[in-house]
Amino acid sequence: MSEKLAIDGGKPIISEPKNWPTHDFGEDDVKAVSEVINSGSIGKGPQVGAFQDEFAKRYGVKYAIAVNSGTSAMHTCVAAMNPNPGDEIITTAWTSGGSILGLLLQNCVPIFADIDDTMCLDPDDVERKITSKTKAILVVNLFGNIANVRELRKIADKHGIYLIEDCCQSHFSEDNGITAGSLADIAGLSFGGKHLNLGGGGMVYTNNTALWERAILFHDAALPRANGPAEGKPYANYFLAPNYKINDIMGAMGRVQLKKVDGYVDSKIRSATNIINGLSDIEEITPQAVRPGVKHTYWTLNMSIDTDALKCTADEYADAVAAEGVPFSGPYLGTPEHGPLYRNPFLAEPNLYGNSRFPLDYNRETPIDYRKWNNPHGEELMSKGIAFSMQPSFDEEYVGQVIEANRKVVTAFRER
Ligand SMILES: Cc1ncc(COP(=O)(O)O)c(C=O)c1O
Repeated sequence: MSEKLAIDGGKPIISEPKNWPTHDFGEDDVKAVSEVINSGSIGKGPQVGAFQDEFAKRYGVKYAIAVNSGTSAMHTCVAAMNPNPGDEIITTAWTSGGSILGLLLQNCVPIFADIDDTMCLDPDDVERKITSKTKAILVVNLFGNIANVRELRKIADKHGIYLIEDCCQSHFSEDNGITAGSLADIAGLSFGGKHLNLGGGGMVYTNNTALWERAILFHDAALPRANGPAEGKPYANYFLAPNYKINDIMGAMGRVQLKKVDGYVDSKIRSATNIINGLSDIEEITPQAVRPGVKHTYWTLNMSIDTDALKCTADEYADAVAAEGVPFSGPYLGTPEHGPLYRNPFLAEPNLYGNSRFPLDYNRETPIDYRKWNNPHGEELMSKGIAFSMQPSFDEEYVGQVIEANRKVVTAFRER
């Protein structure tokens, strides 16, 4: 006989949920930021330069460009390729809108390929979707995992197209010792509430000098700055580009947080591994698949549940666990009503540029109509998804309670 669930009026596993700190923000951060403020010079300056250099070193890449969000990082990655209007970029529909807003702003068209059990792009479906208009593959390493980027790299090389990697959620994840983003032509990440958190900001990184040259101009209104590729040219905006720079306050804090991020990541991996192991005998729960040799850094812990066996939706399951004092949530992006991205109003209506269908109709006989889009495996898998936000401050007792809450709910749901 199962215990009465908290959602049915029983006693929760955790009666007074604790507020687990998400990051270690301390006196060292305050000191670094104060020094910049006291210097009287808070714009983009030496701290941003040093943050970029230290980041590039830590990642083992040639170039890093600090920008003001993950969205602007991904926009800069696309703009660095200088695509033509109507060019297609193959990507995933299970990601933040921030992964693809930039490509639309650059007048490109997202082509959504299906995902595999890693919850990231399925290379086979990506290859099926390549056309003469394909400019790039934009892979998103979701939740801290790494997609089958090695296979995507081969496909991109075979077809002579770019590979862009969205590592916003996968700071310091590794594939057989290679840091996420390093196999791509250019990659971006976000500092908005991620492992490395500056309350906003992002980074673009690449080993490709030509892409760096255009990217560094693009993030700064294509102005000819000192030490940049256009140095010495007369002052002018050389092509259409926004201002995505960050300032030295963020740069200084980034440098301090960069020293602490390994600790956050190690702790999240430890807790997530213990939770996964503690639930491994439950057949109805399957964690996000991780390929051999991949170091998943667990920005969030995502699993899918057997909704038939447990006779519930993923939302109902997550609500029952949350009532036990462990804040699980249901499907990422709220599938099927609002997610995946091709069902969001900005694409489905579409609601992009005034009353036009641009760029979805540019140079095409039939405009792209996302209302007809369907990635069947992704829809099935992600509608059964449950998510749990990982914090580096979790202690062993809490990890045990996370396992206990799930076991309690599974046991009760099995008997219903
Ligand atoms: C995968 C992914 N890409 C892009 C973004 C956009 O980043 P930002 O919110 O910093 O603009 C996010 C944000 O969560 C994200 O998770």
